Amino acid sequence: MGRFEHHMGGLDGTPKPPDARTRPGAAGARLDDARSRSVAQRIAADAAQVAAAIGDGPIVPTVTPEEIREHLGSRYDFTTPLELDDVVDDVEHMLGTWQVHVTHPRYFGLFNPSVTPASVVGDTLTAMYNPQLATWRTSPAANEIERHTLRWIGSQFGFPADASACFTTGGAEANFSAVIVALTRALPAYGEHGLGALGASPTLYLSGEAHHSFAKIAHTTGLGRRALRKIATGASLTMDLRDLARQVAEDRRDGFVPLMVVGTAGTTGAGVIDPLPELARFCRAERLWFHVDAAWGGAVILSPRLRSALTGIDAADSITCDAHKWFSVPMGAGMFLCRHPGTVAAAFHAETSYMPRKTAGVVADPYTTSVQWSRRFIGLKLFLSLAHHGRSGYVEMIERQARLGERLREGLRRTGWRIVNETPLPVVCFTRDGLDVTKFLATVMERQIAWMSEVRLAGEAPVVRACVTSFRTTEADVDRVVRDVESLV
Ligand SMILES: Cc1ncc(COP(=O)(O)O)c(C=O)c1O
Repeated sequence: MGRFEHHMGGLDGTPKPPDARTRPGAAGARLDDARSRSVAQRIAADAAQVAAAIGDGPIVPTVTPEEIREHLGSRYDFTTPLELDDVVDDVEHMLGTWQVHVTHPRYFGLFNPSVTPASVVGDTLTAMYNPQLATWRTSPAANEIERHTLRWIGSQFGFPADASACFTTGGAEANFSAVIVALTRALPAYGEHGLGALGASPTLYLSGEAHHSFAKIAHTTGLGRRALRKIATGASLTMDLRDLARQVAEDRRDGFVPLMVVGTAGTTGAGVIDPLPELARFCRAERLWFHVDAAWGGAVILSPRLRSALTGIDAADSITCDAHKWFSVPMGAGMFLCRHPGTVAAAFHAETSYMPRKTAGVVADPYTTSVQWSRRFIGLKLFLSLAHHGRSGYVEMIERQARLGERLREGLRRTGWRIVNETPLPVVCFTRDGLDVTKFLATVMERQIAWMSEVRLAGEAPVVRACVTSFRTTEADVDRVVRDVESLV
């Protein structure tokens, strides 16, 4: 049995507890111990095995917190040095056995992708060289690789070459950045004096299907959660423009300061896309910041067949697009793109005597143009993956997953399920009369049919949500899931 299958427990889907024994290591092991080389070689081999065998193992673990805590408590008091090889063995056991395998071909989940080998190499190199990207001067190569990659991504969205762009930890940080920059533009005193001193109450407009990171953002920026205006959605689950116009007019009348409209391109629940061209026009007419949260759906901008779904995104003031979703690279890798580099610089400026001095010329120091200070080389995994697969590789992968979504939708419809969302993207929300969604999903997972989730759309009764997130998913996987879930009703 290969190492990976061993880690994954029985192929019948019954996870087995980790059983590795850890030996004491050489006392005071040197931090640059040469033996780490053989462990690194072994990890490279494991990576290939994990990728090859993931589809044969279970998807969902059964484990209690007590079980894991007991395991950790009994082995790791951090007093005696241990052999690295043994600890890695044990950690691989734990990760192989005690997690939902989001890189499994039948993980139909929450936008967590399978990861390309090139991107795994990228993250490994990042850890190895540990470049510090706070300033340009410290890591010229890494900074220019990120800039090159971000400019290409920006150009796909129709953004100009001088747009501001940075890698973030994910979509939530990118959305956070957008709100801070929008506040800085609309209320220049916000940065120095804070919202309290302005006597203004800015408001933010988004549909009830938008991502809930905005609730935390409203909280942490000082806007307050009540600044969020949940705009009604129609039958298509997209933002209702009439309700948007009504709400903005009402707020102006009541003395609020309408700030930003968030259009979502690929909602988390149903994968639907708000009417971006109309939202862009409305924002222009009302002088509102137009932010498009394309955290997952943004990747379809590469696809000639699907990109028309994002028409209007080029008119956004800012865009969120996550590489760690449909670009299939490891977490965390978000992107924040903004048309207003001057306002971005005003929002995040910082001066210290202890940081390396700014390099003359056409370079920006990321710590002065984004939320983070110290930062890892997030962009390398996307750079390597784009360079290795090329645009055509991505187009093929994205369009294939969209076709598999259609196949899943059709298969479910044919076998009596009601599909409740409409989108060209591979998110399928479905139900049938009398279905107890929670119980149904428990059985789906217990039998290792697939990982799917429960969602309420527009506040209605819960339905089942399945999203094709993995480039490993095949037509056979989709057909098997359709067959297996039919057998449960
Ligand atoms: C539409 C949307 N925006 C933002 C986010 C938050 O992204 P992250 O989890 O990368 O912070 C998500 C996460 O799924 C999302 O679906």
